[in-house]
Amino acid sequence: MSEAANDVAVQMRAGLRRLAKAVVVITSQHESQRYAMAATAVSEVSMDPPSLLICVNSNASIHTPLSAGAGFCINILHSSQEAISAVCSGQERGEMRFQQGAWAQSKSGLPYLEDAQASFMCRNDRAIVYGTHTIFIGVVEDAVTSGAVDPLVYVDGRYTVVGPAE
Ligand SMILES: Cc1cc2nc3c(=O)[nH]c(=O)nc-3n(C[C@H](O)[C@H](O)[C@H](O)COP(=O)(O)O)c2cc1C
Repeated sequence: MSEAANDVAVQMRAGLRRLAKAVVVITSQHESQRYAMAATAVSEVSMDPPSLLICVNSNASIHTPLSAGAGFCINILHSSQEAISAVCSGQERGEMRFQQGAWAQSKSGLPYLEDAQASFMCRNDRAIVYGTHTIFIGVVEDAVTSGAVDPLVYVDGRYTVVGPAE
């Protein structure tokens, strides 16, 4: 990377520290193995078809099943589920990540977190490789919500909460 590009990357990182994001755990199941990864690079794409995108580093273990076309579930964490994010971002590996939290299996065979704020079961529709990451677009086939709105938020390199509406 050139010095100028490096300067921009440093400035971009500083700017992104001010972009508050809800924390999700992306899950998948492929060849009878379960995968889970904490993430914030998630966005809605379109309501017709109902679709969401995720950006996954090509080094992440979940990248392998997603590249093979496996479906995925996006679980928005509750403010009390910071420990699940820690486990799913490197504290544990593989199947051990499912020891923390109330995990169930959807009709389509995807692992989902029963008391997540919301879980979106997605069919893996498209992959766009860009730089270090792959953008996976999922068509939402099922969506469930649980409890009052009170998501776990990541901003300025730390977890915080907005709390439920008064
Ligand atoms: C709050 C938070 C948000 C993250 N967001 C993303 C993301 O959007 N995409 C990504 O590829 N990794 C993201 N990561 C990093 C992965 O969770 C982490 O590198 C994980 O360990 C990769 O999976 P692996 O250990 O199975 O290879 C995030 C980590 C944290 C703590």
